[in-house]
Amino acid sequence: MDIHDTISGLRAGLKHAGRVVLVPTMGNLHDGHISLMQQARAHGNTVLVSIFVNRLQFRPGEDFEKYPRTFAQDCERLSAAGVDHLFAPCEAEMYPTPQQYYVEPPADQIGILEGEFRPGHFRGVTTVVLKLFNIAQPQVALFGKKDYQQMMVLSNMTRDLALPIEIVAAETVRAADGLALSSRNGFLSAPERAEAPRLHRELVRVREAIVNGERDYARLEQAAMAELHAHGWQPSYVAVRRRLDLQVPDAGDAGLVVLGAALLGSTRLIDNLEV
Ligand code: PAJ
Repeated sequence: MDIHDTISGLRAGLKHAGRVVLVPTMGNLHDGHISLMQQARAHGNTVLVSIFVNRLQFRPGEDFEKYPRTFAQDCERLSAAGVDHLFAPCEAEMYPTPQQYYVEPPADQIGILEGEFRPGHFRGVTTVVLKLFNIAQPQVALFGKKDYQQMMVLSNMTRDLALPIEIVAAETVRAADGLALSSRNGFLSAPERAEAPRLHRELVRVREAIVNGERDYARLEQAAMAELHAHGWQPSYVAVRRRLDLQVPDAGDAGLVVLGAALLGSTRLIDNLEV
């Protein structure tokens, strides 16, 4: 695996790369990330991973400083997964001067769900991803459905700005007990880790109720939130939405997704299930 820490080095390394598939990450890689690398292979002939903990998408008081950085271990995992190139710039390479130009996603796509709880987050995500797209100029980029709103916003940005990049959405990888793999799981204490799969279980319950014909989504959402609350969580939301734009579904809309986010101790977990 070739490791690049400069834009010019990366571009030189990709000169004869053919169809490049980019998998952007913030490192601290787990099996969920690695499954993206494995799927990437089917979409092109060069797999490029980026590792960059992007300050722009964290608000003051969020976990930017304590975001786990495990570079040596990540490199080993990526080599073993057969990744061809790793782009791991330092902050001065990505932001040599403070970033002044931003992508501004539409309010109805970022004023809801995660965006409501993390103002400015998606503006930081879209800006860094557009910058990574410009730096690497991939033909394909892979994102996980684990971060469903992120995947939707990035797909829409790519379409709206006519970027010549195919966006591929990958399924969420889970632990055996259903907990979606996440770098944040490492912050959970042992009792919290035992409790954590409840979020997924509640989403499964909501999905089953809808599949069985229940259409009072508000009632399902409230019941799931109450259950989480009763077990010590502080739920931000449980929401049944349309997959395409994450807006509240009209009666009879098909193609739904149920999304949830909740604080367990001091760790905020998110998950979702397509219905
Ligand atoms: P990060 O949280 O490192 O995630 C990198 C990619 O891995 C994202 O596309 C995410 O959806 C995917 N992913 C995370 N957990 C997963 C799981 N359990 N199963 C499948 N895929 C999973 O998301 C980011 O980084 C950043 O916001 C980024 C897009 C890199 C921009 O900074």
